[in-house]
Amino acid sequence: MERTLIIVKPDGVQRGLIGEVIARLERRGLKVVGLKMMQISRELAEQHYGVHRERPFFASLVEYITSAPVVVGVLEGPKAIEVTRATVGATNPVDAAPGTIRGDFGLTIGRNLIHASDGAESAEHEINLFFRPEELISYERAVDPWIV
Ligand code: TYD
Repeated sequence: MERTLIIVKPDGVQRGLIGEVIARLERRGLKVVGLKMMQISRELAEQHYGVHRERPFFASLVEYITSAPVVVGVLEGPKAIEVTRATVGATNPVDAAPGTIRGDFGLTIGRNLIHASDGAESAEHEINLFFRPEELISYERAVDPWIV
């Protein structure tokens, strides 16, 4: 089993798409094991997007992710990282396939609705950045044997 971090970004929250975004991932069979609403601080944003520190879009990215509340979640399932990224779609909504979250709801790269960890290392790092261990719940669902 794998875990991945998602963030419904400020535009997703403001547009009333929290449920829609999470529903699409949940419907695939992924299990929500952590979920909370928060306002990301500048410090946390800079840590989260640290790899992009030298990129020209870094300042506007930090501005955007801290501009309004977000919903942060941890999803669990086989190949959860890859499955979530595929459901989210390409970084730039212009290139995101219809049927993906960004391809169905996004228009510009600066407002692309959702973050999802891009690998095992970043998933672990990001989960630890946003959640304390006791905030993540391991539990069985009756439906799991019908999915896996
Ligand atoms: P990145 O980690 O490359 O994409 P993803 O979110 O798909 O993992 O980039 C992080 C965010 O930075 C991305 O969601 C949107 C923003 N961004 C820009 O604003 N301009 C850019 O040219 C890129 C590459 C990213």
